[in-house]
Amino acid sequence: MTDQKVQELLSRMTLEEKIGQLVQLDGGCYGVGALATGPQAKLGITQDVVDVSGSVLNVLGADKVRAIQARYLSRSRLKIPLLFMADVIYGYKNVYPIPLGLGCTWNPALIREDYRMIAEEACADGCMVTFSPPVDLVRDARWGRCMESPGEDAWLNSRYAKAMVEGFQNDLDPAHSVASCVKHYAAYGAVEAGREYNTVDMSERRLRQDYLPGYKAAVDAGCMLVMTSFNTIDSVPVTANRWLVKGILRDEWGFGGVVITDYAAIQELKAHGVAASDREASRLAMDATVDIDMKTPCYANQLAGLVRDGALREEQIDEACLRVLRLKNRLGLFEDPYRRADAACAEATAHDPAHAAAARKTAQRAAVLLKNEGNVLPLRKQGQRIALIGPYADSADIIGMWAIHADRGRAVTLRSAMEEKLAGGVLGFSQGCRTVEALSALGEFGNVPALQGEDAGEAAAARWEQEALALAAESDVVVAAMGEHMLQSGESGSRTDITLPAPQKRLLKKLRAVGKPVVLVLFNGRPLALEDIEADCDAILEAWFPGTQGGPALADLLFGDAAPSGRLTVSFPYTVGQEPLYYNGFNTGRPAEGSGHSGRFVSRYLDCPNEAKYPFGYGLGYHTAVYSGLTLSADTLRPGGTLSARVTVRNTGAAAGVEVVQLYLRDLVGSVARPVRELKDFRRITLQPGESRTVEFVIREAMLAFLDRNMEWTAEPGTFEVMIGPHCMETQKARFEFIV
Ligand code: BGC
Repeated sequence: MTDQKVQELLSRMTLEEKIGQLVQLDGGCYGVGALATGPQAKLGITQDVVDVSGSVLNVLGADKVRAIQARYLSRSRLKIPLLFMADVIYGYKNVYPIPLGLGCTWNPALIREDYRMIAEEACADGCMVTFSPPVDLVRDARWGRCMESPGEDAWLNSRYAKAMVEGFQNDLDPAHSVASCVKHYAAYGAVEAGREYNTVDMSERRLRQDYLPGYKAAVDAGCMLVMTSFNTIDSVPVTANRWLVKGILRDEWGFGGVVITDYAAIQELKAHGVAASDREASRLAMDATVDIDMKTPCYANQLAGLVRDGALREEQIDEACLRVLRLKNRLGLFEDPYRRADAACAEATAHDPAHAAAARKTAQRAAVLLKNEGNVLPLRKQGQRIALIGPYADSADIIGMWAIHADRGRAVTLRSAMEEKLAGGVLGFSQGCRTVEALSALGEFGNVPALQGEDAGEAAAARWEQEALALAAESDVVVAAMGEHMLQSGESGSRTDITLPAPQKRLLKKLRAVGKPVVLVLFNGRPLALEDIEADCDAILEAWFPGTQGGPALADLLFGDAAPSGRLTVSFPYTVGQEPLYYNGFNTGRPAEGSGHSGRFVSRYLDCPNEAKYPFGYGLGYHTAVYSGLTLSADTLRPGGTLSARVTVRNTGAAAGVEVVQLYLRDLVGSVARPVRELKDFRRITLQPGESRTVEFVIREAMLAFLDRNMEWTAEPGTFEVMIGPHCMETQKARFEFIV
């Protein structure tokens, strides 16, 4: 309907009806099971509130959605449909790799297409809004939600944010789209010490330069909702932070869409210690222009009183309500309250072979080959006895923690995919060991059953080990499918020990002692510190949580039917003590190399390198490449002008392979200190054996800009270093002057 009609509708609503639009409840209130991703509490709201509520959390399934909507509308005075919102984060029935893996594809165009398919599946099953993409910049591997982030680089995250939003929203095509809600605004990835829900405190410069661009890119791409994060920034919880929500998001960036809280965040303002009551918490959130209260009774029970007492103006409620009504209208709900929801269509879409094929292709491209000594990979399909050992060899948990609406039964495991590939070869399988010492330490999450046999006692674990070692002894090569338990990452998955869990480490060392080559395939949701097991493996393939087609995708890579092409978008440390760790830090006054200081007094650790074990941008293929001949088209650049940088890349190996050619810049002297390198562009190229290609990048003034001493985006005159290479630590270098 027209916007005028939407406004007329608003004018006919009672205060209670308007407030209802700002209340989001879970399925329990509508008589279906509730999936909880936050604290379980009895809400304390009346049926009258349920009858005017505006949206439903995490209930999907076309028939269920239709039934709830029909019943709700039959009781509703103004027939304003409910909005169904859910966490469809990196897949629906077909699950793709976790976002960290998606980041490692260095391929936003591919991800846009994947997200269009995800939207199509979810939309057919009744989803109208998805709480995705999460684009929190992440620099601390202790934080469990690393898995939800495309990585540690602001520019690259922004490219993904745009691609994901465009894929989900797909120009709001009613059959193939869901509205996107970017999260978690803002800077949630910077929680102190990587501890979930913890404090965030940083300079405004860093916030704006590094942490905000991902969300901004989503908003610029037309993202229709924004979710506030749980954390404080400068001691003010974001859900009560008028400067961030009203000031930056709405006034500076012009965001006119809906702001929703994270789970129960309004009520948690009391625990933060900035509100003494639900009433005060509600007033603060509404004053910050937060529109929807997810899963607390605060708005439902407090807003009317606040308006009546004059503590809030009714126009504030009107504005928030209008934003929600407009969202419903843009989604076409007033014309068709069910949108695409249709069980047969959902079923057909979920089984579209193109979706499974896309999930497989993306999982191949997300995996990063970290090590391949003696070219132990690829494996041979014939004439090689392979022992496949480990908790992830035959497990559906390869879909990762946040695929909460997925159908686990559809995950194709590594074991079944490898068996299918082998033409007469031999594959032995053993679970080998438990994933973690004690499952009870991981806390509950209703959706995730324990790994098969995980609760087996000591005797079973000892038997698995014997079986695995015997299998290894009879084999030519061992493939160890190991990693973090899926509940060791994701929400509330913070860890201080980011190494491979102990039972698996022990088994890996015993397998090493058998003396056969060992290929480690890793399943995890964060960068791990691999130093203590690196020598126990000849090859390491980082698979992340690769999704429902993880098995086939990894088998393709292991047998060389596809070439590994993923590149890290997060730094892998030697040890957890290096965290937070990221590639684009500062030089300091006493850099470890080249400072002129001798001996002790430089910026370094006594017991560990400063750099990453596996740096940002790093990843191997089954080929080798040489970069040479970096040349610049000129040695100066002027405002409005361009400068081109060219480099030649040659495949010196025997196999075809993908190179992700990366361009970094450094501003040598600025009005404020500048990072030692920053990613500015990249190209993916495929090279046949012996093939050479010249890759050209165009450098422009905008690429040099940063927040200067006066907090203005400026490109300052001076010398810049250009670095081009296969990863951030291995680059060809040249310099130019920017002259104003
Ligand atoms: C998470 C969000 C999620 C929400 C709704 C919260 O616990 O932090 O990412 O969207 O629950 O399920």
